[in-house]
Amino acid sequence: MSEVIPIGADHAGFALKERLVQELRALGYEPLDLGTHSAESTDYPDFAHPVAERVERGDARRGVLLCGTGLGMAYAANRHRGVRAAVAWTPEVARLSRAHNDANVLVLPARFLTEADGLEILRTWLAEPFEGGRHARRVTKIEP
Ligand code: RB5
Repeated sequence: MSEVIPIGADHAGFALKERLVQELRALGYEPLDLGTHSAESTDYPDFAHPVAERVERGDARRGVLLCGTGLGMAYAANRHRGVRAAVAWTPEVARLSRAHNDANVLVLPARFLTEADGLEILRTWLAEPFEGGRHARRVTKIEP
């Protein structure tokens, strides 16, 4: 059975989200598109929470969010217990967010990325495993 990946964006991330949904399908994942569904102005928390809730509850192992800077989505998603939402603006940051921080939500700053950048960041993030070891100890210390 293919992995379900909830994905959400505000208006600033809408166009890139549409492209990432296609890419997730092409890679064999099952994207769960939680909106937004147009370029009309929206509020990013309305999309961050539904994605983060699914990861928090264990309904999904990983999720993807997009907004203009990535920051608002990350603030909202990281309020959820067990969620580690990482803003990644290069493939290397995305890779390290998995390898060292076990990020379970990828957040993309859509206004600062080309489509090609966004796709490469997504593919890198999905493929990279968590290294564990000393990083596992550090990740355990994140929850207050
Ligand atoms: C929307 O204009 C913008 O503020 C939003 O996409 C995001 O960048 C917030 O963090």
